[in-house]
Amino acid sequence: MTKISPASSDDLPALVAIAAECGLEVDFTAELSRSYARLLVAREAGVVNGFLLAWRAADELHLTDLGVTAARRRHGLARALVTELFREDSRVIFLEVRESNAPALALYGALGFTELDRRARYYSDTGEDAVVMQRLLR
Ligand SMILES: CC(C)(COP(=O)(O)OP(=O)(O)OC[C@H]1O[C@@H](n2cnc3c(N)ncnc32)[C@H](O)[C@@H]1OP(=O)(O)O)[C@@H](O)C(=O)NCCC(=O)NCCS
Repeated sequence: MTKISPASSDDLPALVAIAAECGLEVDFTAELSRSYARLLVAREAGVVNGFLLAWRAADELHLTDLGVTAARRRHGLARALVTELFREDSRVIFLEVRESNAPALALYGALGFTELDRRARYYSDTGEDAVVMQRLLR
C-alpha cells in the first residue's frame, strides 16, 4: 500500500539518500521552507521510497524532480506521486526530461504528458537535449 503525503523534516535523511541514488541534486531543507514548493513523499509500510518536487507559479506547476529508490521501481510509486499532483488547483504541469531517460519519458507519456518543445544541449554534463513536456489539468 503506497501512501502519498507532504514531506516533513523527519523525512530528510530518506530524501537525501533517494536523491543521491537517483543522481538528483535537491536542497530539501530549502525546499521545505519555500511556500511555493510542493514536496511529496511516497511511503510503503511507513518507509519513504520516493519523492516528487514541484514549484507552483501562478496557475502553473513545474515538476522539477522525481525519484524512486531503485529497489522499489516499477511498483507504481512515481505514478502515485504524479497523480497526486493532478489534484492541485492548477491549469498545467510543465517539466523537462533528458532525451535519454526512457523510463521517465514512458512514465510521463503514460500519464498524459505531451512533448511541447526541445531545449538543445540543456544538460551541461552530457550535452543532452531536454524534452519539454506539458500536461493540461483543466
Ligand atoms: C522514472 C522513475 C521516477 C519511475 O519511477 P517508478 O516508480 O519506477 O515508476 P512507476 O512504477 O510509477 O511506473 C509507472 C509507469 O511508467 C512507465 N515506466 C516507468 N518506468 C519504466 C521503465 N523503466 N521502462 C518502461 N516504462 C516505464 C510504465 O508505463 C509504468 O507503468 P507499468 O509499470 O504499469 O508498465 C524512476 O525510474 C526513477 O527514479 N528514475 C531515476 C530518477 C529519474 O530519472 N527521475 C525522473 C527525471 S527527474
